[in-house]
Amino acid sequence: MDKLLIRGPKRLKGEVTVSGAKNAALGVLPAALLLSDVCTIENIPNILDIAILRRIMESLGTRFIDIDANTLRVDPTNVSSYVATSEDMHLFRGSYYLMGALLGRFRKAVVTFPGGCNFGVRPIDQHIKGFEALGAKVEIEHGHIKLSASKLTGANIYLDVVSVGATVNIMLAAVKAEGVTTIENAAKEPHIVDIANFLNAMGADIKGAGTDIIRIRGVKELKGNAVHSIIPDQIEAGTYMIAAAATKGDVLVKNVIPKHMESLSAKLIEMNIKVEEYDDSIRVWGKDRLNRVNIKTLPYPGFPTDMQQPLTSLLTIASGTSVVTETIYERRFKHVDELCQMGADIKQEGQSAIITGVDRLTAARVTASDLRAGAALIIAGLMARGTTEIGGVEHIERGYENIAAKLSGLGATIGCFEEGEDTAYARACG
Ligand code: EPU
Repeated sequence: MDKLLIRGPKRLKGEVTVSGAKNAALGVLPAALLLSDVCTIENIPNILDIAILRRIMESLGTRFIDIDANTLRVDPTNVSSYVATSEDMHLFRGSYYLMGALLGRFRKAVVTFPGGCNFGVRPIDQHIKGFEALGAKVEIEHGHIKLSASKLTGANIYLDVVSVGATVNIMLAAVKAEGVTTIENAAKEPHIVDIANFLNAMGADIKGAGTDIIRIRGVKELKGNAVHSIIPDQIEAGTYMIAAAATKGDVLVKNVIPKHMESLSAKLIEMNIKVEEYDDSIRVWGKDRLNRVNIKTLPYPGFPTDMQQPLTSLLTIASGTSVVTETIYERRFKHVDELCQMGADIKQEGQSAIITGVDRLTAARVTASDLRAGAALIIAGLMARGTTEIGGVEHIERGYENIAAKLSGLGATIGCFEEGEDTAYARACG
């Protein structure tokens, strides 16, 4: 699909089931390269980033067997290449996990710099610092990162910035190193715990994942031969929670871990939205009058940067002035101009967006510049009067499984069409 067409406003009603977490699956699949046997992974999301990762891992010699739409058997036993330098590596951020995984397996790796959403400088110095501390030599040549080590030895590593990617990459490289590795100031996101749980189920010895100190005692072999289920995607869950609130709808979001949603749930409640938590689902229903709130993005358990863009769409219709401060990425504000085209009143000042609530948004032709900007525009399209056209859908497909179908299941009027096609011929997506 090239473009999305959304006719709003429409109240969303019903139930939606959240898929497996993109950012967990992007770590778990490369982690399987460290195994000496097959493994089974359930709840893998069907999204573009995973399809590309599979293609890269297949080119290295990994065999995948699709058990069903979301369950994969992964056989890394014949992987013989440690070189991942195809164009595919540039297409998403998670390709950086092949550094840690291949280094851990072969003691060497040659990989291309990762791509992913463009929100300013996204350095990987903390990943490199970690690999070097474990004994690897790191050279950067012609856009490739070359890693090599005669052996990897456990070390104490203090991260200068809390980094999800560096925490996971060091875990991957350290899991079969000699001795104990300690990561201090580690990231605590739920998907870090999920990746550690996967590795532990396969025979690793990782303690403290989910806290800011992770200890990894190196093991000789990761035997594999176990089954792991990827945790639900907290950002996808949050996107549907916000969409329910934005359309004054009533939606039961299923397959969630409510604890992972606490920072968002608290903000929605502060805005006068009803949020009811059950064991593995959350019901959200919207009210007519929304209160303003301030948001500051922080590493987990703080408010996630990935939710900042979708929540901004909701704040455009809250009464009063809200301030959203982005502390993780300097340029994660590309959705702002597009929302302004739809009638939002947002001013960007440095790292903050100052949002003054308006009565309603109106449909416009807008473009998603990155994945969560796309989610923000979909939410705005659901709220706005008229028919919104959203381009840049390839970004959205990177991280949301069947988003159009899931939204139409909730009653949204949403269709797809190809660039250059008459929008009157928009059809069901999928
Ligand atoms: N940073 C450094 N040096 C490093 C690594 C990071 O300075 O070596 C900085 C970054 O520039 C940023 C901060 O540290 O300012 C945090 O970056 P982090 O490494 O945590 O982010 P990431 O690993 O590149 C992952 C997710 C992002 C998510 C962030 C923050 C994946 C594949 N990506 O990125 O997800 O926003 O953590 O939670 O896991 C998304 O799903 O839309 C997405 C962008």
